[in-house]
Amino acid sequence: MAAITIFGKGNMGQAIGDVFKQGGNEVNYLVNGDPVKDLGDIVVLAVPYPAAISIAKANPTALVGKIVVDITNPLNFDTWDELVVPADSSAAEQIKQLLPDAKIVKAFNTTFAATLQSRKVGGQQTTVMAASDSSEAKAALEAALKDSGVAFVDAGTLKRAHELESFGFLQMTLAAKEKIGWDGGFAVEK
Ligand SMILES: NC(=O)c1ccc[n+]([C@@H]2O[C@H](COP(=O)([O-])OP(=O)(O)OC[C@H]3O[C@@H](n4cnc5c(N)ncnc54)[C@H](OP(=O)(O)O)[C@@H]3O)[C@@H](O)[C@H]2O)c1
Repeated sequence: MAAITIFGKGNMGQAIGDVFKQGGNEVNYLVNGDPVKDLGDIVVLAVPYPAAISIAKANPTALVGKIVVDITNPLNFDTWDELVVPADSSAAEQIKQLLPDAKIVKAFNTTFAATLQSRKVGGQQTTVMAASDSSEAKAALEAALKDSGVAFVDAGTLKRAHELESFGFLQMTLAAKEKIGWDGGFAVEK
């Protein structure tokens, strides 16, 4: 069982919290304006990308040694045509620069909230893909998800966050253009 703190109680914060609770973990939330204290070993930033950057900038000490899960899809929401992070980087790598002593994991950005709630993408089990330079952090996340109803795949090092964010971006544009549903998307067959 892991102690998990989730920043943000919106669509993703609630869906991820329910998944972790089913996995037998202890979940607490920090909503906007809450004092940052009593953080669990795993900290999920279930907030928009600019807010994730603000949280990282404001809390470098509190986040030392924590497994920090970045779930953001850093779109330019004015154009829906590009990401706001440098083309050779990712939101997760930008957060890593601000929190060099945390174990950053990119995860959950390719699973729409509805597919976490249903545990299904079409007929397939929903799969969380995770990228991190910390094998220990990925193992902890996999363990926390073991009995949660969603599957886990190790997607490689933190460099793969770039690909996960491209994947998430494409999936969002497909849903926005009604080519796929917000309760659908890409599935992973093991
Ligand atoms: N929705 C999806 O299907 C999906 C899928 C994959 C990834 N994502 C990513 O998940 C993240 C959250 O998306 P969402 O759909 O859950 O958005 P949402 O429903 O708008 O929820 C975002 C939440 O973050 C809160 N928040 C903002 N700044 C905060 C702070 N400093 N501390 C604590 N909470 C804060 C907001 O609270 P206030 O309203 O009080 O500001 C809001 O409740 C985004 O980065 C998005 O790209 C979403």
